[in-house]
Amino acid sequence: MPKVLIVYDTKTGKTEKMAFEIAKGIGKVKGIEIFLRKVSEVKPSEVKESQAIIIGSPTHNAEVSREIWKFLKEMEKFDLKDKLGSAFGSYGWSGEAVSHLIGSMQSFGMSIVGFGISVQDVPNESDLAECRKLGEVIAERLQKN
Ligand SMILES: Cc1cc2nc3c(=O)[nH]c(=O)nc-3n(C[C@H](O)[C@H](O)[C@H](O)COP(=O)(O)O)c2cc1C
Repeated sequence: MPKVLIVYDTKTGKTEKMAFEIAKGIGKVKGIEIFLRKVSEVKPSEVKESQAIIIGSPTHNAEVSREIWKFLKEMEKFDLKDKLGSAFGSYGWSGEAVSHLIGSMQSFGMSIVGFGISVQDVPNESDLAECRKLGEVIAERLQKN
């Protein structure tokens, strides 16, 4: 069964809200296993086994959060070539995290789906619908392979 890992950090729950919606979107497609993990809980085996990895981070000091930065360092140790990847996150005023995530995943040789979803402050219904769509699109890509 194809597997998708959604791994995220959040301090006030906004990026987490997006993560839950992405998982809902994946859930619309049958036969996909979802690992939905806070970054502190993710296991190396889940990174290895997943055909798609979707990373969420709030922007902290014009970067990804410290915990996500550490996770990206860990990811470098795996062969991620040709895994699907995408990114999401809430931000306050400048919002650099998502583009940093996409850049890192590209440097790992991952195949990026979409452009990432970056939302200022609390995600609204249209942002959440976009999150569900992203999950669904990634799940459909995996089901076809
Ligand atoms: C320590 C810290 C640094 C931050 N730095 C930035 C920043 O540089 N740019 C920005 O857009 N938002 C910044 N923010 C705001 C968060 O990205 C924003 O509140 C976001 O919505 C939090 O998402 P969360 O609810 O998933 O934690 C910062 C927040 C904290 C706590």
